[in-house]
Amino acid sequence: MDFERTLWHPVARADALPAAQLFGAVLLDARIVVWRDSVGALHAWEDRCPHRGTALSLGCVRNDRLQCAYHGWQFDGDGKCAHIPALNRGLPAAQILQIYEAKEKYGMLWVRLQKSGSEIPPFPEFENAALMKVHCGVYEVATSAPRIIENFLDMAHFGFVHDGILGDTDHTEVPDYAVSNFNDARGEGILATQCFAWQPRSNATIAQGTMVEYTYRVCAPYTSILTKIPAAQNGFAEAIALFVQPVTHETSRAWFVLAVTDTGAGDDNLQAFQDTIFAQDKPIIESQSPKRLPLDLRAEAHCAADKMSSAYRRYLQDQGVGFGVIPSQRS
Ligand code: FES
Ligand code: CO
Repeated sequence: MDFERTLWHPVARADALPAAQLFGAVLLDARIVVWRDSVGALHAWEDRCPHRGTALSLGCVRNDRLQCAYHGWQFDGDGKCAHIPALNRGLPAAQILQIYEAKEKYGMLWVRLQKSGSEIPPFPEFENAALMKVHCGVYEVATSAPRIIENFLDMAHFGFVHDGILGDTDHTEVPDYAVSNFNDARGEGILATQCFAWQPRSNATIAQGTMVEYTYRVCAPYTSILTKIPAAQNGFAEAIALFVQPVTHETSRAWFVLAVTDTGAGDDNLQAFQDTIFAQDKPIIESQSPKRLPLDLRAEAHCAADKMSSAYRRYLQDQGVGFGVIPSQRS
């Protein structure tokens, strides 16, 4: 599973972790504690006290140190033991904690378990100051991260799962679309273009049905970004990013980050719209069996409308992804 450990993964919205607070999380089956010091600097460590193995996430942040709940050992931001109350001194020389890398980007907190040259997935639309940013979620989902991404890439379910909103039962055909590889300022991965769908209510502000055109791209194993074509009137491409935290092979947490024109709808309305949509998807994707995405294309039946799904499965196989999938035994 080493490949996934070399990638950056989202673990929380940045605003979910105030200064001098901590939380425990699970990423790729690893228990981590994420905390901030008093000036907001971010840390991610193995969630295990080196003294007696207690979860550090049961502790608290004191004077820019993480204090274990059991015997009160305090660890500074470098992971060194700065204070042992029973001895009234520290062990400052030794760094005895497993430290991971943590960063803040796109209003999210990201953690990488193993050093590598990887970047946080590119989301250039977020950098566009003309677009309003709205964070939706977290959505806790009892399925693998790839099942969630694949559902996001799937247009054939709109008329059934999202009847009256993203599709309707009288317009269930998926017109042919194009799938290609891409490698540019948006990163590298697979791209679906000319994706047309008739949508009764394509977003929180549109009350009447319209034909919409989307692109979908996958620029990391558990990240997908949708853009709306044509760009909004002011020439800026609106986008919705789906970031998924692979918790265990078969459980995940997901967020949508919207970069959209400010129509005055308000964050609450946009969030409520995404909540409604995701609540419709959730029972479907949690019911899928197996929960790990099978990468052998013979394992499930595909039709022409699924070619982005098929491309995604091939992409995961080619990248060597092993977490949340059933790898194909075929070379
Ligand atoms: Fe953490 Fe003893 S187990 S201080
Ligand atoms: Co859906």
